[in-house]
Amino acid sequence: MELVKLTIDGKEVQVPAGITVLEAAERAGIHIPRLCHDPDLTPVGACRLCVVEIEGMRNLPASCVTVVSEGMVVRTATPAVIEARQTILELLIANHPLDCLTCEKLGDCQLAEYCYRYGVTQSPFIGGEKHNYELEESNPFIIRDLNKCILCGRCIRACAEITCKDIIDFSYRGFNTKVTPFGDTPLIESDCVYCGNCVSVCPTGALTEKQMRGRGRRWEYKRVRTTCPFCGTGCNFD
Ligand code: FES
Repeated sequence: MELVKLTIDGKEVQVPAGITVLEAAERAGIHIPRLCHDPDLTPVGACRLCVVEIEGMRNLPASCVTVVSEGMVVRTATPAVIEARQTILELLIANHPLDCLTCEKLGDCQLAEYCYRYGVTQSPFIGGEKHNYELEESNPFIIRDLNKCILCGRCIRACAEITCKDIIDFSYRGFNTKVTPFGDTPLIESDCVYCGNCVSVCPTGALTEKQMRGRGRRWEYKRVRTTCPFCGTGCNFD
């Protein structure tokens, strides 16, 4: 296996060629924040929260889609990196309900967690237009609150890459962009099989399990391995 040597935050590491800077940092015990990244899904570099400084590069590249190279010098927490992450978080919460106290995802929300870590308590961008989508709870299993969606696309990739269903995708453009089944129908009118993969990868309270509502927090439940009954292949999920 070809190996590559690089330096991350002053630590020299040797990792397999072809992996990303985010994965290399992980191996070195350095956590780089991420919202759109999930190790089981194709990286897309959408949220930019994982930006880092790399010597010789003028911009701050997204570490989840930047492949390591020999001699690379990476810094994951410089003032410029921290400021960029704070600005991204401020932009995200500018159009977010901020009803954290009653949110089903309280204590398990990655957006809230990173706001806490980066000291983002409010947004200078509040005051613009905000989404006001109706809560979708017409199906028996999944509650969709698109006001809390940060368009990371994890649910879309989970549906396509793990469940192999391709039920949902981005619809519309710009501020009106949202994740919907084909034709912008409610889930109950789509071919959704309610496998829950989209819910399990959602980093915010946009997708939650209806049957868990008000019954306890995610960490109070035991995760078990289950077999998807739908297409007959018998894929296992946690
Ligand atoms: Fe890298 Fe979102 S985690 S761009």
